[in-house]
Amino acid sequence: MGSSERPVAKPTVLVTRLVPGDWRDRLSLVADVVTWDEDRPIPRDILMERIGDVDALYCMLTDRVDADLLDAAARLRAVATMSVGTDNIDLAECTLRGIPVGNTPDVLTETTADTAWLLMLASARRAGEGIDVVRDGKWGTWKPGFMLGSDVHGTTIGIVGLGRIGEAVARRAQGFSARVLYTARSRKPEAEARLGVAWRSLADLLAEADHVVLTVPLTPETRHLIDSAALRRMQPHATLINVSRGPIVDTDALVEALNEGWIGAAGLDVTDPEPIPPDHPLVGMVNCTILPHIGSASLQTRQAMANLAADDVVAALRGERMPACANPGVYEISRSEPRG
Ligand code: DGY
Repeated sequence: MGSSERPVAKPTVLVTRLVPGDWRDRLSLVADVVTWDEDRPIPRDILMERIGDVDALYCMLTDRVDADLLDAAARLRAVATMSVGTDNIDLAECTLRGIPVGNTPDVLTETTADTAWLLMLASARRAGEGIDVVRDGKWGTWKPGFMLGSDVHGTTIGIVGLGRIGEAVARRAQGFSARVLYTARSRKPEAEARLGVAWRSLADLLAEADHVVLTVPLTPETRHLIDSAALRRMQPHATLINVSRGPIVDTDALVEALNEGWIGAAGLDVTDPEPIPPDHPLVGMVNCTILPHIGSASLQTRQAMANLAADDVVAALRGERMPACANPGVYEISRSEPRG
């Protein structure tokens, strides 16, 4: 570099939470890293204020990226969310504006499928209730009819949405000698042959399954997919497991279903609202097991998610294709129309 040349300023990336992993080293290769260091979501007004000065946003599922935020983001060239779900982001708006959005598929698949099974087993076998009995000093002498639950092995498991996580839930069912049904927008003959799963309409799956596992993404079409009518189709002993997003289930309808015995139990890693207040009716129900949205929360998986989101940002700032892009159409648009 000649003495008259000024160093080229690096782009700036705003990271909206402190996360585990090597993300900072990775991002620093190409950008100046600015972080929101508090262990709570960045307040909307602060995000709105800072977004104008950044070239990339590395955000969480708790940050809303919508048209208003994008209007204030004059320099923004990339968004990456440290989640597989992208319902916090207006993907269509980002695509229109030529902004690629990265997310974290694959790396969390197995951990999230483990969580679905954790909830299925815990709900069917009343694990939460059992733990409370011991803690509360209510464990009397052994009784043959005490705390009888339902089996998981040898039953019929119905998976709603046979994507990566749905498939990983189905694979685990083989070890439990369980039959697997699935429902999805279109039939998947290749997956049916590979996994030995059978397609059903949603209505038939709900009626036939002993355990229903929700793995569909949250979209306008899947919001309240499990409503009163859906819950009434399920069997009285059946369990409902949700490892996707809370609003896929109509919460009021679920309270009624559990109270009235339309279904046997629910196991939820996600709720609507989230976090669910401790005085919410679902929290007090013995047949409802609730985890605080920790589906992917193993150390290894969260590190992998953090690193993948960082790699998405790095690729975009280098002008390369993101390794995991949730709006791949953006590359078609940016090839045909210059951003202006
Ligand atoms: C996601 O990635 O969307 C989960 O909800 C958090 O792991």
